[in-house]
Amino acid sequence: MTDSPSRPVALVTGAARRIGAAIASHLHACGYDVIVHYRRSAHDAERLVERLNADRPGSALAAAADLADPAGCEALVERAAAWRGGRLDALVNNASSFRRTPLGTIDDAAWHELVDGNLKAALFCSQAAAPWLRASGGAIVNLCDVHTERPLREFSVYSAAKAGIVALTRALALELAPAVRVNAVSPGSLDWPEEGIFTDAERAATEAAIPLARLGNGRDIAQAVEFLLRGNRYVTGHVLAVDGGASLVSR
Ligand SMILES: NC(=O)c1ccc[n+]([C@@H]2O[C@H](COP(=O)([O-])OP(=O)(O)OC[C@H]3O[C@@H](n4cnc5c(N)ncnc54)[C@H](OP(=O)(O)O)[C@@H]3O)[C@@H](O)[C@H]2O)c1
Repeated sequence: MTDSPSRPVALVTGAARRIGAAIASHLHACGYDVIVHYRRSAHDAERLVERLNADRPGSALAAAADLADPAGCEALVERAAAWRGGRLDALVNNASSFRRTPLGTIDDAAWHELVDGNLKAALFCSQAAAPWLRASGGAIVNLCDVHTERPLREFSVYSAAKAGIVALTRALALELAPAVRVNAVSPGSLDWPEEGIFTDAERAATEAAIPLARLGNGRDIAQAVEFLLRGNRYVTGHVLAVDGGASLVSR
């Protein structure tokens, strides 16, 4: 049971690790009760939820779903809303898959992994959450990528999926107004992926081109998400670049 039934409730997808975990932790510190969604990272999700519940008993819940499947999105949102008797104030569509797809190698599986894991998941989670968010006057924040404007070489499928999220953000902002605001945070280069997707030379070139002279981190992104969720209630359909100025630099 929660110690404060009136706290706002946030569902953060892909929140077991990395940026999603930072967003969930930050929103929790700001007073939200949080649903930490995960797909495979059950151990990390449970550890994060234990830590958050140690700070404030009953304030965090881990919930698994494969969001490439619309039924998974619907079941996750139903579970999240049911947790606090139908209350849901915030949806953060953070879950993502990311990998290189050079032209000539792209197959149907790559398309589905990247488009479904990014764009389709955000659409179906938003659709499922809309009735609950309308009732609470809540908000959605989608995670995009500044590289939709300046695509990364050999990441065409990921770039197209993230560009779709920009369009989705604007379309849903219009459709869900005035009850629900829909915005996006568009990170630049953050803590590097663990899988070694980029070469050392690519990393060095990227880092050297950031005007604010460092990679972004989870806190930078989480603060922007919080601002769009509750710091300002007259912004909708906006895509906020959080990239240290990287998108200003010509290449
Ligand atoms: N990191 C960067 O430099 C960077 C730059 C620009 C934009 N972004 C965006 O910022 C957000 C956070 O980045 P990140 O690097 O922390 O993300 P990430 O580690 O690539 O992915 C976050 C989580 O998404 C989940 N996920 C992937 N496919 C899924 C599916 N089909 N169903 C359910 N969950 C799925 C995974 O959960 P499990 O581990 O539980 O399977 C994964 O841990 C993403 O939207 C990303 O595109 C990141």
